[in-house]
Amino acid sequence: MSPSMVSILILVGTESGNAQMVADALKPVLVAAGHKIDVSDKAATAADLAAHDVHLVVCATHGTGDIPTNILPLAETLERERPDLSGHRYGVIALGDRTYLDTFCGGGKKVDAVFERCGARKLGRRLEVDASSQPLPDEEDLTASDPPLSPCILGVFRGTPIGERSVTSSADHFPAAIVLYQRNLERFARTREELLEQIGITLLHEVGHLVGLDEEDLWERGLE
Ligand SMILES: Cc1cc2nc3c(=O)[nH]c(=O)nc-3n(C[C@H](O)[C@H](O)[C@H](O)COP(=O)(O)O)c2cc1C
Repeated sequence: MSPSMVSILILVGTESGNAQMVADALKPVLVAAGHKIDVSDKAATAADLAAHDVHLVVCATHGTGDIPTNILPLAETLERERPDLSGHRYGVIALGDRTYLDTFCGGGKKVDAVFERCGARKLGRRLEVDASSQPLPDEEDLTASDPPLSPCILGVFRGTPIGERSVTSSADHFPAAIVLYQRNLERFARTREELLEQIGITLLHEVGHLVGLDEEDLWERGLE
């Protein structure tokens, strides 16, 4: 294992498969960046976390701000047993829908809090993905860029990229959001397979903007 290689366990919390799809799309990108990646939707104990330096939680929200049932045993065990995770680092990608208002991304937020209580060190801020509230882009999204964006865009990143954020800017205290436009994606793809592939590409494109890549960088990575 090279010194820069990190062993990452992607922990999936899902009811209907979106979080699994995000994990499956992320895996090859992280492998290409030189890391060792495992993905699990069944981890339930602290022992299941022991072999990896970094845990990346990709977690949806169900019910009213609830943790998906497949990852609930892990969250409950960590809460109850409070194992010492201070030797581990973690990140959270929370999937939700902003129309749920107060419980937006509640599942990811709860799992985030549990890892924090066990002493794990968080890498960056939680990424909150608002995945389903908008079938089509609104005027504000299109005119936020100069020149304005096409109404056919498949997704958008809202917020300030990591690395360009300032602690003194109140705007930067809002979590970043990635919005995927369901109807544009459905028009773009001819088959369900193409749709799934394009959702993955669009999500990674917007994650690229989150980490500060521009259109040219994304084009070079095949994520245009
Ligand atoms: C029954 C139900 C309840 C939901 N409750 C919430 C919620 O309280 N807060 C939220 O942000 N999203 C909520 N969502 C949206 C899901 O988190 C979102 O669609 C997510 O992409 C689903 O991911 P999954 O396919 O991995 O389960 C809910 C979705 C469903 C179907």
